[in-house]
Amino acid sequence: HAHFEDKKPLTGKKALVTAGPTQEPLDPVRYISNHSSGKMGIAIAEALAAAGAEVTLVLGPTHLSSTVNTIRVVTAEDMLNNSKAHFYTSDVVVMAAAVADYRPKFVEDKKIKKGAGDELTLELEKTQDILRTLGTDRPAGQVLVGFSLETNNEQEYALKKLREKNLDLIVMNSLNDPGAGFNYDTNKVTLFDRNGVAKDLPLKSKQEVAKDIVTAITDILQSRNV
Ligand code: CTP
Ligand code: CA
Repeated sequence: HAHFEDKKPLTGKKALVTAGPTQEPLDPVRYISNHSSGKMGIAIAEALAAAGAEVTLVLGPTHLSSTVNTIRVVTAEDMLNNSKAHFYTSDVVVMAAAVADYRPKFVEDKKIKKGAGDELTLELEKTQDILRTLGTDRPAGQVLVGFSLETNNEQEYALKKLREKNLDLIVMNSLNDPGAGFNYDTNKVTLFDRNGVAKDLPLKSKQEVAKDIVTAITDILQSRNV
């Protein structure tokens, strides 16, 4: 039975992983965010390191931490800037972060006070799509992996992201699968390769899912070398 620990197929390779949520501030005490814990992305970063890669993890705000070299970021903009610094030298890039798609258009420097009226309308503006932005200019030979978290029309949306974001592999997560998604220790995913060929994985621990994703990545690298 072969383990990464014995073979280390990614020795000499550099890898970049994004993980966790982002927080987009509204004022000094409030922000917009999501339920991501970063658990799946951290497991992938550690599985890549176990396979021999030199890993940089760009990690949004979470109580979890990792044994790999970690850059802590808060906003989508921070995550983009810190990812950019490593993207062009990375052989493997896995963007597992749950990046906020919108941020408050105006960030108040003082706490917003409760007004007399019953309603408050927030103006939001789009953040940059890190994966899409960096994916338009990927270095030759790089393996680029994205995630797709959906609640409906999962396959259609995942394949659209695979195509539009110029990916080699997309990991599709459905929030409808019991035991899958935010804060669980388990996950159930489907992998789609560049040609849209699906591989359904059974429900297993996030560590085991991470190993399967790393195996898919090493398979892609190896298939290019033959
Ligand atoms: N992603 C990113 N930067 C963003 C938004 C998403 O890098 N600003 C990446 C995620 O890390 C993930 C992939 O894009 O690898 C897909 O993210 P997802 O939120 O599922 O898709 P979106 O393209 O943002 O579309 P939507 O949220 O509308 O489904
Ligand atoms: Ca999104």
